[in-house]
Amino acid sequence: MNNQTIILGIETSCDETSVAVVKNGREILSNVVSSQIESHKRFGGVVPEIASRHHVEQITFIVEEAMKKAEVTFDDIDGIAVTEGPGLVGALLVGVNAAKAIAFAQNKPLIGVHHIAGHIYANHIVKELEFPLLTLVVSGGHTELIYMDEHASFHVIGETRDDAVGEAYDKVARTLGLPYPGGPHIDRLAHEGEASIDFPRAWLEEGSYDFSFSGLKSSVINKLHNAKQRNEDLPVENIAASFQESVIDVLVTKTMKAAEEKGVKHLLLAGGVAANKGLRERLTEACEEKGIHVTIPPLSLCTDNAAMIAAAGTILYEQGVRSDDRLNGQPGKQL
Ligand code: KG4
Ligand code: ZN
Repeated sequence: MNNQTIILGIETSCDETSVAVVKNGREILSNVVSSQIESHKRFGGVVPEIASRHHVEQITFIVEEAMKKAEVTFDDIDGIAVTEGPGLVGALLVGVNAAKAIAFAQNKPLIGVHHIAGHIYANHIVKELEFPLLTLVVSGGHTELIYMDEHASFHVIGETRDDAVGEAYDKVARTLGLPYPGGPHIDRLAHEGEASIDFPRAWLEEGSYDFSFSGLKSSVINKLHNAKQRNEDLPVENIAASFQESVIDVLVTKTMKAAEEKGVKHLLLAGGVAANKGLRERLTEACEEKGIHVTIPPLSLCTDNAAMIAAAGTILYEQGVRSDDRLNGQPGKQL
């Protein structure tokens, strides 16, 4: 008997086909990510049909590559963890069906994983989680504050009422004529400019940990259109810096307020927007000031990847959670 758990993770919820092998939920043996971003770039966003087709073409090779890199065979694998949702239904189905096929053929347990649980557990790979904790999830599709007092117990205490942060970044970037995905470009420009424009901050009702970014997005777009009509010179770096300042101000203030109110020991940042330099800096500073441990995964674990799915899947596996052959892609799955 060995006392180690080796989980194969599969992630295909959006535009990354990824397969990973993770030992004991924290040690990455392999994490192969095939990004389709180049195929979607010219459309200015992810095209679901193209995403599904890429996943189908890639998945078998990526499974083989991940196993080879990890130097494992199916005999070494204890279970197959796969993202069941949320995400694009056609994309999710490719991963779910691949996982079901492997689980059935190799007679291995199957574990359906929520995509956001994966983003949260990317942090567990970096640092053992301490409870109670709070995670700020910021991605192209999500903006959520999630409280946990133990493993795999997720309480969403705040979420966006309209656009996700990444979505707001991408839409503002598109108006500025920047390539997709625009988040990294705005982040870069923000560091070259000055936050000279006072864009709105949506604090919402007293006590609410929800977010709203559509007002800010519209305000930036209006400002740009007005400046254009008046032939006014508005440096793009200053727009980027001012927009980013407004986003970070709201994210960090609300997160720290929730962290203090809930008395958390550990704060985690998750999702693609966690790559944002300004956000990383400000959140780290705020946590240091309040004496709260903070973990921010490296970029490769912030964006969609299967190691995070295997990490979350390991906890579920150890808790005895199993999926059966009715496992299906759930595009709107709740945490
Ligand atoms: O988590 P992710 O890879 O995919 C989703 O599940 O959505 O996040 C992608 C999002 C995109 O909207 C992208 O513009 C944004 O993350 N992003 C950033 C930065 N890097 C990526 N946003 C702001 N600043 C960045 N440095
Ligand atoms: Zn994601």
